[in-house]
Amino acid sequence: MSDRKHDVRNGRRHKRFPIAPSRFKGYHHGPCHLHHPAGIATTLDGDVGQSVMDIGKRAGVENIIGECGGSAACATCHVHVDPAWIDRVGPPSADEWDMLDFAHGKRADSRLSCQIRLRAALDGLIVHTPERQG
Ligand code: FES
Repeated sequence: MSDRKHDVRNGRRHKRFPIAPSRFKGYHHGPCHLHHPAGIATTLDGDVGQSVMDIGKRAGVENIIGECGGSAACATCHVHVDPAWIDRVGPPSADEWDMLDFAHGKRADSRLSCQIRLRAALDGLIVHTPERQG
């Protein structure tokens, strides 16, 4: 016996929660690769919903500073999205694009890594950190 809101397991009625997996803390995201111009590549795992800045800063990746903590107000988390991933990551918002004016070496593939949220479609994402921030 089941309906749209409930299902029955082991003879007990369970409510279904129509929450997207990204709302579950700890939902694993595949690897994210951060490449530094000096040739250093860092591969990190994270949770869906975390930002690339979050996982990069926590792991001590060089040039991922994130001074504002992810509120798109400092541009110290600037990255270049790898050409193979630019369509899947998508373009920055108008505000993000304006904030990138404060980043060193702004290009068409520039994004604030705090605004790139990990999701299933980005498993294996590659971004390149700039030579320096600000
Ligand atoms: S952490 Fe400040 S703009 Fe991304």
